[in-house]
Amino acid sequence: MAETDYRVALPAELELRHGDEGLELVGDGMVLRADFARMLPRLRPDRLARELLVRAARVRGAESPTVVDATAGLGEDSLLLAAAGFTVTMFERDSAIAALLRDALERAADEPQLAGIVERMTLVEGDSVAGLRELSVPPDVVFLDPMFPERTKSAAVKKKFQLLHHLERPCEDEEGLLAAALSARPRKVVVKRPPKGPWLAGVKPSHSLAGKAVRYDVIVLPPSSR
Ligand SMILES: C[S@@+](CC[C@H](N)C(=O)[O-])C[C@H]1O[C@@H](n2cnc3c(N)ncnc32)[C@H](O)[C@@H]1O
Repeated sequence: MAETDYRVALPAELELRHGDEGLELVGDGMVLRADFARMLPRLRPDRLARELLVRAARVRGAESPTVVDATAGLGEDSLLLAAAGFTVTMFERDSAIAALLRDALERAADEPQLAGIVERMTLVEGDSVAGLRELSVPPDVVFLDPMFPERTKSAAVKKKFQLLHHLERPCEDEEGLLAAALSARPRKVVVKRPPKGPWLAGVKPSHSLAGKAVRYDVIVLPPSSR
C-alpha cells in the first residue's frame, strides 16, 4: 500500500513521524501513537457487554445499528462501539489527530483480531457540526465526547494525552454541537462527561450511566422526531 502523506500543520513543538510501529506524534520528550491492539482485552465479549458506553449506546431492535462518533479523537470509543456491532462513522476535525487515527485503522486492518471490527469504522476528516447536518440517513446513535471546557492543570490527565492537549481545542460551542447531533434525528444522543461534570450545553439528559471515571448522559429522542 502506498504510504499516506501526513504533512499536516502542527504547532512548532510537535512533529508527526513514521516510527517502526506506525505514525507517531512526538514532542515534549513524549511519543503518542493511536494503538488499537492494546484495547484487545476490552473487546472480549464478556468485557464489552459491561462497558458503560456500550450499554449507553445500545438500541433495541436494530439489527445492524449505526453510530456517528462526532468527536472521534484517537478512536478508542469508536472501536468499542464497532466491536459491539455498530457501524461507525467518525468525524475528526484536527488533521494531526485524524492522521494518527487513520494510521491506526490501516494497521488494524492487517491484524486478524481487529480487521473485522475496523471494517465497520469509517473516518471522515472534518467538522462534525457541518457533517451531521449533511447526513442523508439518520443514524441510530450520535456519540459526543468533546474536550471538557474547563480541564484544569490539577485534573488527572494521563501522560500520553498531554501531547494531544497541544492540539485539541476546548469545546467552544457546546450548543452548536448538540444542536447538530439532534438535527441528525438519531434515536439517541450519548454524551461522555466527567463524573461530576455539568450536562452538555446545560441540557438535561433522559438518563445517565455513571461510573467512577466517567458518566454517559443519554438523550432519547421521541420516535416522532425521526
Ligand atoms: C476528548 S477527544 C475524543 C476522544 C475519543 N472519544 C476517543 O475515544 O479517543 C475529542 C476530539 O474531538 C475532536 N472534535 C471536537 N469537536 C469536533 C467537531 N466539531 N468535529 C470534529 N471533531 C471534533 C477533537 O479534535 C478531539 O480530537
